Amino acid sequence: MSNHIKTELKIETINDLGALYDRAFNVVKNALDKGSKNFGLATGGTMLPLYDRIRNSDLDFTQCKSVNLDEYVGLPKAHPESYIAFMKQQLFHDKPFKKSNLPNGEAVDPHAEAARYEMLLQQMTLDFQLLGIGENGHIGFNEPGTPFDSETHVVELEESTRIANARFFNSLNEVPTEAITMGISSIMRAKQILLIAVGEKKRPALEALLKGEVTEEIPVTILKKHPNVIVLTDLVI
Ligand code: F6R
Repeated sequence: MSNHIKTELKIETINDLGALYDRAFNVVKNALDKGSKNFGLATGGTMLPLYDRIRNSDLDFTQCKSVNLDEYVGLPKAHPESYIAFMKQQLFHDKPFKKSNLPNGEAVDPHAEAARYEMLLQQMTLDFQLLGIGENGHIGFNEPGTPFDSETHVVELEESTRIANARFFNSLNEVPTEAITMGISSIMRAKQILLIAVGEKKRPALEALLKGEVTEEIPVTILKKHPNVIVLTDLVI
């Protein structure tokens, strides 16, 4: 029996990072030009060159809404590494949306906050979702083993994820242990997805997506079941 899955993934391998991010910018621009109103956004190092291009463009998101994938639990909003602070600095100051939403990582009850965020997501059609990929194959902060039918929830971050993100903090101890993340089913409801995977560290996860089976052990593999995904990568798999 073959495990081969017919995939709708459109994989574009672009060796030159400048050209890759120009292409990413154009995918976002096309979505906006075609009338996308609700944008799912991501944080992380992968997104920096894309947000830089958007900041320095004439794209106008003032008639659009944004929802971010995730936020650390317990990190003050004013902390420079909170995802709200990242988004303000990298995008929202220069490119405001009509309304921008992130989970509130300072909520007294993070589980109630996750439920509130899920309700908000269910009330909107997500036209476009931007995704990075974790070294362990996470999308959002859906760590390996997360059920594919998960909705927005509180997650305990894997040690490997905290180590990967420690580069943004003074020490590993400062990296929060929990986050609120959109669930996999919430991400899969987006009409179009752009996944950006750059750098050798992402090779095993990308290889799993392109060549492996769909498995909850590697969350990104669910994207094979989505009808409209563009993957931009500098890796030849
Ligand atoms: C960020 C997010 C994460 C990152 C992933 C890759 O909002 O949801 O899934 O996309 O951890 O992070 P970087 O880009 O820093 O390698």
